[in-house]
Amino acid sequence: MSPGSNSASGLRIAGTGFSVPQRVVDNAELAQSIDTSDEWITQRTGIRQRRIAGGDVGVRELGSAALRMALDNCGDAPPALDLVICATLTPEMCCPSTAARIAAEVGAAPAGAMDISAACSGFVYGINLAACLIDSGPYRHVGVVGVEMLSQIVDWNDRRTCVLFGDGAGAAVISRSDDPEQACLHQSMASDGGKWEMLYCPRSEDDLPPSLNGFTGQYNTLQMNGREVYKFAVTTLERTIDEALESCGLKPADLAMVIPHQSNLRILESARDRLGLPDDRFYINIDRYGNTSAASVPICLHELADAGRVGKGDLVLFVGIGGGLTWASSLWRL
Ligand code: ACO
Repeated sequence: MSPGSNSASGLRIAGTGFSVPQRVVDNAELAQSIDTSDEWITQRTGIRQRRIAGGDVGVRELGSAALRMALDNCGDAPPALDLVICATLTPEMCCPSTAARIAAEVGAAPAGAMDISAACSGFVYGINLAACLIDSGPYRHVGVVGVEMLSQIVDWNDRRTCVLFGDGAGAAVISRSDDPEQACLHQSMASDGGKWEMLYCPRSEDDLPPSLNGFTGQYNTLQMNGREVYKFAVTTLERTIDEALESCGLKPADLAMVIPHQSNLRILESARDRLGLPDDRFYINIDRYGNTSAASVPICLHELADAGRVGKGDLVLFVGIGGGLTWASSLWRL
């Protein structure tokens, strides 16, 4: 990143990939085990189904498959990665990093490898880091993976949370480009840890918010204040998009595509309508995958790239919002 500016030029998204578990769990199936209905879930969240991993498929397998596909989609020969960044809040283990195992599995060792934890903002944080490293350092090709197995950390008896989430992975290879027009024009990364209680995963009594009056949930599962997260996500999504556009002197109509974290259909539609963007320029696939946290943005990116709906020269804005609380944006000319 050049000193005093917020843009990095001469870089491109060279390839994208994704991987989701085969097993589809629709709302009707969930309604067989908890007190919910397809109608409630669809109307309140827009989610119709999600993918759930199991058996031999875990975070490493999903992440490796997504990155392998991204490398294969880079063109003639897959580039030798200098670094693998894995954004996840459900790492395989705390040591080694999931990134190191993924790097080895795709044949990228001895590339550098690290996990980052920024919940649903993780992939956007990851591509921002990759842009800075390529712009300022000796790095040429960075693999960024967003992968989650949220099914491992939801309480399947808690209808307020378990219906929202799904498993999956997406990946992108960010590479140096000879064309200075290909650029990350603006990026932001932000957090407010003072609001951590809105979404957290307590390991024991010690992790519970002091303000909590009795805990009836399960440890090591996501605890969420849905209404507060909703309000935060609506306002932060809209403000983050406004700030990115303003910093580049752009209008919503200049964007070829907005790729937001898939949190809730109502949150996304509210932002889309306020921007005045048509459906086909504000991507939503939450109906098919639910909220896959760090994986949601790269899964969307891959679907769009694969369908030829984003390509060279397009202005594309990525936005993530999630636990921490964290939020981030990344505006690219592809
Ligand atoms: N099925 C049926 N009823 C349910 C369900 C369910 N799955 N879940 C909750 N309810 C009930 C509640 O118990 C409550 O019943 P009550 O009035 O008898 O107490 C009623 O529905 C209304 O509950 P609310 O929580 O007020 O429902 P709301 O309209 O706020 O929708 C939801 C809940 C979908 C979680 C919403 O608040 C939301 O989407 N929040 C954002 C959550 C989010 O995006 N989290 C992701 C993590 S962070 C991120 O990605 C940005």
